[in-house]
Amino acid sequence: MKKELRRAVIAGNWKMNKTPSETKALIEEMKPLVADADCDVVLCVPFIDIPAAVEAAKGSNIKIGAENIHFKASGAYTGEISADMLKEAGVEYVVIGHSERRQYFGETDQTVNLRTLAAVNAGFKAIVCVGETLEQRELGYTETLLKYQTKMALTNVTAEQLKNVIIAYEPVWAIGTGVTATADQADEGNGFVRAAIAESYGTDVAETVTVQYGGSMNAKNADELLSKVNVDGGLIGGASLKAEDFSIIVKAASK
Ligand code: 13P
Repeated sequence: MKKELRRAVIAGNWKMNKTPSETKALIEEMKPLVADADCDVVLCVPFIDIPAAVEAAKGSNIKIGAENIHFKASGAYTGEISADMLKEAGVEYVVIGHSERRQYFGETDQTVNLRTLAAVNAGFKAIVCVGETLEQRELGYTETLLKYQTKMALTNVTAEQLKNVIIAYEPVWAIGTGVTATADQADEGNGFVRAAIAESYGTDVAETVTVQYGGSMNAKNADELLSKVNVDGGLIGGASLKAEDFSIIVKAASK
């Protein structure tokens, strides 16, 4: 395993939290705390907060991401957002296929794939989420499911485009529950994702892909999770809404 081949990425996923003015305040608070990071620092924020976030992050090492992207360039898709809109707003990263979108908004492996292609074709870095439910884990399907979701998401993504893809392994049972996967479970899940990439693109390529863990990662457990060979960063929900906690995770990834 060659962890040194991969850049650690700590990304906050704010979900449906913070207004534009709250966004400005939180990023101003975070900026000095993460200025020395030796990893990529990203905040994925609600669409309405993007202009405030881009403005607040200007001149800092914080990159701004969106929480979704549509696969069509424009048209009658009420409530959706296009690559051009996000580009012009200054977005660099896009979260795709989060389990909350799969669970509540009918996101499928097919639409995750289309959104991933749209993101990489437009030059964004795509953070593609995969993860099993508790039921799937208990039935023994974790490896099968993670490999399937990973391969489906990456259908028709070229090895060149894969350089702009990050996969986030987020076990559904660990999201927002306070129940974190053990470091070994996170490492194993991330390893299944990497193995799926290796099956499609070869081991050398797979070793270069950043695979994050997400699910109740916090200031206390980040060190141990991030020490694992297959855990190249984190996708952070709740703890990314607190400047101090988020910065501790960033520091853990910078070691
Ligand atoms: P929590 O860190 O709040 O569990 O959320 C994880 C997540 O879903 C990040 O995308």
